[in-house]
Amino acid sequence: MNPLNLKPLNLIKAFSFCMLFWALSFFLTSQGLLSQERKPLPAKTASIQPSDSEVKHPPIATSSSCSGRGCHGGSEPVLGQIVQQNEFSTWITHDKHGKAYESLLSDRAKTMAKNLGIPLAHKDLRCLACHTTPQIAQEQSKLDYPLDLGVGCESCHGSASSKWLGIHTTEAWKNTQSAAKKALYDNEGMNYLGNAMVQAQVCMGCHVGAPANPQAGIPARDANHDIMAAGHPRLTFEALSYQNNMPPHWNPKKYESNTNRDLEIWVTGQLASLSSSIELSSHRAELALNNQGVWPEFAESSCLSCHADFQQPTWRGKKNYYEGRKPGSLPYDSWTGVLLSEALLISGQDKQITSLYSDFVKAKNTFKTSPKQAKAAANTLAIQLANIQKEIVTKGINPPKEWRALLLDQLSKHNLETATWNESTQIALALSMLSSKKPEQAILQNLWENLAYPSGYESPKGYSPNPKSLEGVLQKLKSSK
Ligand code: HEC
Ligand code: HEC
Ligand code: HEC
Ligand code: HEC
Repeated sequence: MNPLNLKPLNLIKAFSFCMLFWALSFFLTSQGLLSQERKPLPAKTASIQPSDSEVKHPPIATSSSCSGRGCHGGSEPVLGQIVQQNEFSTWITHDKHGKAYESLLSDRAKTMAKNLGIPLAHKDLRCLACHTTPQIAQEQSKLDYPLDLGVGCESCHGSASSKWLGIHTTEAWKNTQSAAKKALYDNEGMNYLGNAMVQAQVCMGCHVGAPANPQAGIPARDANHDIMAAGHPRLTFEALSYQNNMPPHWNPKKYESNTNRDLEIWVTGQLASLSSSIELSSHRAELALNNQGVWPEFAESSCLSCHADFQQPTWRGKKNYYEGRKPGSLPYDSWTGVLLSEALLISGQDKQITSLYSDFVKAKNTFKTSPKQAKAAANTLAIQLANIQKEIVTKGINPPKEWRALLLDQLSKHNLETATWNESTQIALALSMLSSKKPEQAILQNLWENLAYPSGYESPKGYSPNPKSLEGVLQKLKSSK
């Protein structure tokens, strides 16, 4: 993997020494240069059986049951096998998912718990829903020991039934073709992550949030404004840059012959994140209708409109910023929807969704919309988005031949003079996806400097659009092949 790909996410998050260290350690890791020592697991992470009638989800094996040396707990990747067999070691040593439960014991989490008025973050179902394997968050909140440390294997791969544990180690399994394999995964309730769309949907459950899924035993995952105000980092997930920041425990060579893999991850990520945010929005409206939530839910609107510095003159005063909206109204500035047109273009999907999305945004752009109206608008859109995703799961992404030029054209249509941070950053990440080569990455440098969080901040303090830089990169990429 090209360590340059690390840049976007980290530059935004911490334009500092910290980032260099991260990148370096990641580089070393990906080269296998750091030791892969394994931490012993507490004895109590044994397999959980659905012993009491309360347990409704499929049985969870927990990560420790994948950790055998001959299974996924080897210290070095095994060559010539379909899987590398050191996945557990990579996860527990280098992957932040393996530390997600520990984060609930950190000082920051303690402060958050205090602000929220809850006794312990690591016992709170809201936090556990995303910081451990979600299928067991409910039980974990009641027990005094951790069932699974952090976001375990089954959070992403699905609940491993005993049947799955048996079949996936057989000789016959190795020789099964991937299309047939997907059916076997589906039958056993496992997620076939080789399918980019399936993979994207899995990530969004925690990185955007999701309503409860009782069938899978997963509680609601909702980092709302209460949690943000208590001190949680803002969630701005973009599938490709995040995947590039995950220490790979899969064999990246698998995709050497698929030159469109990055595009697939990017575009399915755009669609899945929008879809998840809309479903979450419907869930929040439902909570408000039942008097269980606040309305409007601030986390659905533009953070940086309410939390802006009062600067004069302000770039928000420029022509078209308030297009279709009264100054002072509550702006919906979704991180997940700004590149919808681009995503539809690449995936060749119905443009009608764009108008449903504008209806939804209009409904969100005011304090006046009732939860009932907002829920209806969200549900109409969610159904269409779900259909699109279903189709992509089976048919994959078949971008038009000239997709690169089309995508650059579509990106050029944004009003760069008044682009919010969300818009500029999503555009910059898309441009980064289009710039796999080193010299191209170098011309993105100015963009990151404008978008990065200044040291000591977890927001882009003093952000204002930088149309010249964006325009410059767009032009350069258009003229390069
Ligand atoms: C919707 C899922 C979700 C919920 C709910 C949630 N978190 Fe998180 N949390 C995340 C994700 C995802 C990150 C990583 C964000 C990133 O880097 O993009 C994170 C990051 C954090 C971090 C920073 C970790 C670090 O050191 O970098 C802390 C601390 C934290 N969460 C605590 C909590 C607490 C406490 C709660 C409950 C009050 C909670 N979280 C609820 C998903 C969630
Ligand atoms: C945060 C999500 C996540 C977690 C947690 C996770 N994985 Fe994965 N895993 C992935 C992704 C994404 C891939 C790549 C899938 C692909 O492209 O085919 C993958 C691939 C794999 C593969 C290779 C599969 C193949 O067909 O090439 C194995 C084996 C694997 N993971 C095992 C594990 C084990 C064991 C754990 C727990 C120690 C684990 N994973 C935890 C996301 C995750
Ligand atoms: C069950 C919830 C869950 C799922 C599913 C999940 N994540 Fe995460 N992810 C988290 C949490 C929580 C954190 C923060 C961990 C911490 O630092 O405490 C995190 C952190 C990360 C980070 C580190 C970000 C940073 O700040 O450095 C990356 C990268 C990441 N996730 C990528 C992915 C990808 C890609 C997928 C899908 C293949 C995925 N995640 C699926 C919960 C999840
Ligand atoms: C409609 C306006 C509004 C929106 C939109 C909004 N907030 Fe807030 N936020 C507030 C108010 C009001 C407070 C309480 C401020 C106070 O008491 O001083 C607050 C407090 C906070 C705090 C704690 C105080 C601080 O400045 O550290 C954080 C952090 C925060 N919000 C983050 C966010 C994030 C992240 C988003 C977007 C996901 C967001 N807010 C969206 C109005 C908003």
